[in-house]
Amino acid sequence: MTTGYLETTRNVYKEAAEKPDIGLCCTTTPVWQLPGLDMPLIMQQMNYGCGSTVNPRDLVNSPKILYVGVGGGMELLQFAYFSRQKNGVIGVDVVDEMLEASNRNFDEAEKLNSWFKKEFVDLRKGDALNLPVEDNSIDVAAQNCLFNIFKQEELKQALQEMYRVLKPRGRLVMSDPTCETKIPEALRDDERLRALCLSGSIPLKEYVKMISDIGFGTIEIRAKRPYRILDPKNYATDKLIYIESVEVCAIKDPTPADGPCVFTGKTAIYFGSDDCFDDNKGHLLLPNMPLAVCDKTAGALGSLNREDIFISDSTWFYDGGGCC
Ligand SMILES: C[S@@+](CC[C@H](N)C(=O)[O-])C[C@H]1O[C@@H](n2cnc3c(N)ncnc32)[C@H](O)[C@@H]1O
Repeated sequence: MTTGYLETTRNVYKEAAEKPDIGLCCTTTPVWQLPGLDMPLIMQQMNYGCGSTVNPRDLVNSPKILYVGVGGGMELLQFAYFSRQKNGVIGVDVVDEMLEASNRNFDEAEKLNSWFKKEFVDLRKGDALNLPVEDNSIDVAAQNCLFNIFKQEELKQALQEMYRVLKPRGRLVMSDPTCETKIPEALRDDERLRALCLSGSIPLKEYVKMISDIGFGTIEIRAKRPYRILDPKNYATDKLIYIESVEVCAIKDPTPADGPCVFTGKTAIYFGSDDCFDDNKGHLLLPNMPLAVCDKTAGALGSLNREDIFISDSTWFYDGGGCC
């Protein structure tokens, strides 16, 4: 097992903590605008994420939140906005300089936001591969643009750690780059490129399988967006490599006997002449009422070959509700 890249990663983020690197992981995702939330500029400059992991739907009933890989603290502040309780958000990072920088940024946030108290955030030194957090104690665990850096063994371990600390029914919310093109080994082994979230990404299907293999019974693909191009002129590749970034939520509920429910934004629409269509497996389709379905149900309904049921393609935008 080669884990030297983990040290390179720590060094890259030590530098990014000491000197904000504005273009490091930029995406098209706008910074959340929330009433009464004034985001310090330094947190925006240190936004090293590739999407958003903050979704009000996950944040009801004062959840206990864990955020791994704190960066400048922007998403921790957004989570604190919803949780507003002492130590409501635990932030874990392995890089001292990043913890110090985010701690300073929270001072700034306290000055700008009368509702925010630094005690809402509990910063802890620790590793994603060995979280300093109790078993079954977290409602929402998040990471943004860190796990894509890990090679397979470490990714498995990091996901297992998230699973361990989540309460039953707890949610793992993640944003990471994914890539459907095979990335040449020379690029995959380039420790700095990997640390910069450019060459470690894997195809979405593999990413989802890694998550479901850990035991998460439900997986939602919430968004998928263009992220980066690695081109032959600037990188060691003979073809263009297109990288996307995804937002995924995995729920720690039991995996059904026939496999996990993966929602990729498919919808079933019944347009027949009966009052409804019932597949007798818990799915009732009312005429012309779109029903969000997981890929398993979409496959089962599709295999009926009915002329009065339409199944949409994956939209890669799943916003809740539906079949399972
Ligand atoms: C790409 S940055 C993302 C930062 C933040 N999530 C954001 O969206 O701005 C990766 C973060 O993970 C931290 N990190 C790197 N290796 C880590 C590890 N093994 N365990 C925990 N944190 C780690 C880095 O210090 C950095 O804060």
